[in-house]
Amino acid sequence: MSLNSQSSILASIGNTPLVKLQGISKSLNANVYAKLEGLNPGMSIKDRTVLCMIEQAESEGLITPGVSTIVEASSGNTGYSLAMICGIKGYKCIVTVKDKASKEKINMIKAMGAEVVLCPSGAKPDDPDSYYEKAKSISESIEHAFYINQNFNLYNQKAHYKTTGPEIWEQTDGKITYLISPASTGGTISGIAKFLKEKNPAIKVISADSEGSVLKKYHETNEYDKSLKKKTWLEGVGKDIIPPNISMDHIDEFLIVNDERSVENIIHLAKTEGIMAGGSSGAAMEALCQVKDRLTSDDTVVLIFSDHGSKYLSKFYDTEWQVDNGLETIENVIRVTE
Ligand SMILES: Cc1ncc(COP(=O)(O)O)c(C=O)c1O
Repeated sequence: MSLNSQSSILASIGNTPLVKLQGISKSLNANVYAKLEGLNPGMSIKDRTVLCMIEQAESEGLITPGVSTIVEASSGNTGYSLAMICGIKGYKCIVTVKDKASKEKINMIKAMGAEVVLCPSGAKPDDPDSYYEKAKSISESIEHAFYINQNFNLYNQKAHYKTTGPEIWEQTDGKITYLISPASTGGTISGIAKFLKEKNPAIKVISADSEGSVLKKYHETNEYDKSLKKKTWLEGVGKDIIPPNISMDHIDEFLIVNDERSVENIIHLAKTEGIMAGGSSGAAMEALCQVKDRLTSDDTVVLIFSDHGSKYLSKFYDTEWQVDNGLETIENVIRVTE
């Protein structure tokens, strides 16, 4: 066995590269980096979260390989990471997914051996058909089932406090001044922010939020406005509930990003920086665009690129999809630097 061999694919979760975005840094006259979470084995940041939640449940004796069925509601990435980890560890796995999820994500979860239950995207959180309620009812109807519940399970946030946050601090030599990340369960941004602000409270933490998401309003007014209707193509941006994993106190600002511009950002990114990233990465770039006038050459900005663009080949990167959704031609892209 070579010195570089690993006991399983799980050992390659985390320690992802932090890569300087050369063109963007140059035109903004700041140091802009992307944390490439799409380079985890499950091609998203959710590998870290799921591994942490599963290992915690194992250590508490809540689940047993060969006996337990793990159930989760997921926009796709958590489902894939869960299916991968369950396959390796010997758990059965059922994932409820919103029907707006890309085809790649759905097929990838199935390919990893998990069962997928599609749920209507438009269902309100308390509707029995919503992907939350479906996961809950499935877990209640099966013997030895465990609902991992990434929105409420605080080991989601802890995964990032323990791994992603410290990696970013070390990779920037403590120079980071801005963290910009999408938020859905809020585990990513909150766990990283908590760690970084303990190191340096002056670091600014900004979340990209989607139109109709309840997060920005809750952050600003403390009101959970259930009348809002989340409306976005982007997966992993915005929320229709206030998940306990989101620590509002650690986030300085929520910025609403436009779907079209977010997608155009990733199309342009692939061509200029050689990085294929998902739509929520384009949302982080769009939030960067909104704060660009605040930046100086002393700033070090870290964008969280939560997943890999190959998960969206039939969606954002498909020319027909682009035309059908009004993006017309790639030549018309809005540069993040505009
Ligand atoms: C592609 C993508 N980006 C961002 C996020 C947001 O991460 P978090 O749930 O930790 O807020 C998710 C979560 O579902 C995601 O799938």
